[in-house]
Amino acid sequence: MALLEITDLSVAFDTQEGVVNAVNGVTLALDRGRTLGIVGESGSGKSQIAFSVMGLLAKNGRATGSVRFDGREILNARPAVINPIRAQKIAMVFQDPMTSLNPYMRISDQMAEVLVHHKGIGKSEAVAEAVRMLDAVKIPDAAGRIRLYPHEFSGGMRQRVMIAMSLLCRPDLLIADEPTTALDVTVQAQIMTLLGELQRDFGMATVLITHDLGVIAGFCEEVLVLYGGQVMETSPTDPLFESPAHPYTRGLLAAIPRVDQEGEELDAIPGSPPNMTRAPKGCPFAPRCAFAGEDCLDHLAPLSEFSPGRFRACNRSLEEIA
Ligand SMILES: Nc1ncnc2c1ncn2[C@@H]1O[C@H](COP(=O)(O)OP(=O)(O)O)[C@@H](O)[C@H]1O
Ligand SMILES: [Mg+2]
Repeated sequence: MALLEITDLSVAFDTQEGVVNAVNGVTLALDRGRTLGIVGESGSGKSQIAFSVMGLLAKNGRATGSVRFDGREILNARPAVINPIRAQKIAMVFQDPMTSLNPYMRISDQMAEVLVHHKGIGKSEAVAEAVRMLDAVKIPDAAGRIRLYPHEFSGGMRQRVMIAMSLLCRPDLLIADEPTTALDVTVQAQIMTLLGELQRDFGMATVLITHDLGVIAGFCEEVLVLYGGQVMETSPTDPLFESPAHPYTRGLLAAIPRVDQEGEELDAIPGSPPNMTRAPKGCPFAPRCAFAGEDCLDHLAPLSEFSPGRFRACNRSLEEIA
């Protein structure tokens, strides 16, 4: 049994302009200790998948389908079911650490509070454990700096604090939603290295959400490519980089900045992301796809396995897009 099993998940929002179909029939599974990357442009529905798992959808959102965690259905679960899981079994790290940190509390107090509340240990023991966790995320002089307030840390250090906080209860699953997007490039690389080390040391299953396919390489064993709330391709990471099997994945690859091409123009994918108020008919990428035919605007072939462990949803054959 997979640790996380998402089946046919859809998320729709009611808005004044009509229904926004943010996620359309996503299915994925993640085993204990494994790493999955979810990649797609801004607006493709990545965060809404995470929010559905965490029970954090906005009030105007409705999720359908199934999310099973450790065998238990948690989609739209009652607070009595989801709250303990969310606090202790599944942790989430966001792009902006301030969404998880309380600006008015010392780091020591907020970290200790988590442990006192969920693990029932005493305050001084909790602070000692918090210091160990800040050490684990390589905050220099953790014992001294744990007394500081969040704003007294730099952006990168604050992200380390949030990661330490998310790991306090030793979760089985970590969902990191664009954890480095707000940081500058060198700090991004440091945080990804750190996350990789922690993932190996703590052994938690991890979902890494990013718009940047480049961040996935070296971190994730599997990749799921999302467009318009639909899965375009899913594959083990290395083969996906060697032979991307969907026109959209190729576009994402061409858009990764490469060190050896510094200063050169990146091949951004022409056109703009889909309007999610349109009914999910046809392939969402069709209007931007060089290989699309009339049929693509009308229907999209379901995901099919074209090589062991690799799936693609595309009306064109691999030969046709070669
Ligand atoms: N509360 C909401 N009401 C209406 N639409 C929303 C709401 N939250 C998100 N959306 C829409 O859902 C789509 C997917 O959003 P999101 O999952 O945040 O994208 P990503 O994380 O991939 O950038 C976007 O089109 C976004 O505008
Ligand atoms: Mg997002």
